[in-house]
Amino acid sequence: MKKAIVIGATSGIGEELAKLLTAKDYKVGITGKEQEILEKIQKPNPEQTVISPFDCTKDNNSQKITELVKALGGLDLLIFSAGIGNLNKNLGFKVENLANKLNVLAFNEIADWSYRFFEDQGHGHFVAISSISGLRGSRVAPAYNASKAYQINYLEGLRQKAKKSGKPIYITDIRPGFVDTDFSTYKGKFWVSTKEKAVKQIYNCIKNKKDIGYITKRWFLIAIVLKLAPNFIYKRV
Ligand SMILES: NC(=O)c1ccc[n+]([C@@H]2O[C@H](COP(=O)([O-])OP(=O)(O)OC[C@H]3O[C@@H](n4cnc5c(N)ncnc54)[C@H](OP(=O)(O)O)[C@@H]3O)[C@@H](O)[C@H]2O)c1
Repeated sequence: MKKAIVIGATSGIGEELAKLLTAKDYKVGITGKEQEILEKIQKPNPEQTVISPFDCTKDNNSQKITELVKALGGLDLLIFSAGIGNLNKNLGFKVENLANKLNVLAFNEIADWSYRFFEDQGHGHFVAISSISGLRGSRVAPAYNASKAYQINYLEGLRQKAKKSGKPIYITDIRPGFVDTDFSTYKGKFWVSTKEKAVKQIYNCIKNKKDIGYITKRWFLIAIVLKLAPNFIYKRV
């Protein structure tokens, strides 16, 4: 049985991914801040689910994940789905720093831990849920977009490293547009996908070891527009 960890599995995309992986016969380690919620998710499949409550911005991520891998009996796939994104037009650093702490620092520690583990083991797959938001800056959530740009760029670096290693190590960058979760209160959402549809597409990207996946697929069109939009227009948006 393959072993997977989903970081940030107490709600939204992470919870749905954990459920799907269980249905696909993975043994899954699930993490999040709330023990009670993790226990509830574990209940229908206790033999296939191991829980580990911890806060990625406060606890020792490397130690917690090492313990979780021991409890699972190995690791083939690690998905970093935890994320925070506050609208912050007024630029208070306290709010901006929440995104920095989770989406940059904790992501960095867990991505490095995963890569090194997979390199020692000789194989493995690291997946992060970044965002279409990482492609350009945003006046309404500057730190969020910047933190997602960091993830996208970092994942590209890891992918080069994996290729150079010659080992079957895969790095997948999942870039959703909008998915129907409690994640954001942003009013201007469009092309909002259900969690189920998004996770089905994410699973296909994982199965096919894709480098990058736009979720849903048609967000690739928005990605092209964002990448091509000239600065003199984009800065007026
Ligand atoms: N939904 C969208 O429209 C959308 C679009 C683009 C990208 N994304 C990205 O997709 C990912 C998942 O988002 P979602 O929509 O599933 O949001 P969500 O429902 O809010 O889930 C976020 C998950 O992150 C966990 N988390 C937050 N802070 C944490 C911390 N300090 N330590 C450990 N875990 C923490 C949460 O656990 P607790 O509940 O225990 O805090 C929860 O399990 C995020 O990275 C987000 O940036 C989402």
